[in-house]
Amino acid sequence: MDQYRVFGNPIAQSKSPFIHQKFAAQSKLIINYQSELVTLGQFEVAVNNLIANNGKGANVTAPFKEQAFAMCDELSEKAKLAGAVNTLIFTDGVIYGDTTDGIGLVSDLLRHQVTLKNSNILLLGAGGAAKGVVQALFEQSPKSLTIANRTLSKAQAIAEQYPNNAIKAITFADTEELTFDVIINATSAGLSGDSLPISNKTIQHANTCYDMVYGKEPTAFLKQAKLLGVEHIIDGLGMLVGQAAASFQLWTEVNPDVEPVLHSLREQLL
Ligand code: ATR
Repeated sequence: MDQYRVFGNPIAQSKSPFIHQKFAAQSKLIINYQSELVTLGQFEVAVNNLIANNGKGANVTAPFKEQAFAMCDELSEKAKLAGAVNTLIFTDGVIYGDTTDGIGLVSDLLRHQVTLKNSNILLLGAGGAAKGVVQALFEQSPKSLTIANRTLSKAQAIAEQYPNNAIKAITFADTEELTFDVIINATSAGLSGDSLPISNKTIQHANTCYDMVYGKEPTAFLKQAKLLGVEHIIDGLGMLVGQAAASFQLWTEVNPDVEPVLHSLREQLL
């Protein structure tokens, strides 16, 4: 049987095995997809063991996405820009790396009928989560794409990868002076209970507020957006299923139906 894994540390919380087994059942494919806790320093060993045991592919989550990138023989353009991969494909002794987080985000926004083309998009954060989605957002031909980050230099480093000042880098304070249609939170501020220094005025102007984080309760950012009457308020559960769907398609060439899987996951959260 073809073997797949999601590697991470910690990994017990991962919903990827559930999602991929559902996708496989939908398409009547028989695969074995499991989560594997990898000891720090043992990532390459884990990947090589999988390859030696009929491994066809793997997902990679924190903290191994950069190590996975370094281990690849071939990389997609998106992965090169992100400097990290979440999907590995093993064929004929070659390790190919790609990143599907951006496709997951964009497909979820489009599924919610959010307009990205010709929109003014604000991405909050410039860490790994933000880096993984910039290219996919850029490909949607927004009117503008702006990255705001607490540490400005990190946002600038991402923006500099793109020619002609196509992407702007600003501080949170700068957001006050500008207006945006779509605001996407890719910071980890909410996870540590911090609220984002972004004003009601900026949020109120947007038609969409998206938080890559998901949970039983809406995040502080989404609660703020809801109170202010923002039209589309979306958490990151659909992005999670969307990135999994894109990985599944890379491995099997089958495009799975995300809706029923997303529905079951949402019910499990409640
Ligand atoms: P991840 O892989 O989740 O992106 P990361 O690479 O550590 O994790 O990046 C975390 C992001 O959240 C960064 O953009 C960080 O801002 P800095 O670059 O200034 O550190 C942002 N972040 C974390 N806590 C924050 C807070 N309390 N307020 C604003 N931004 C915060």
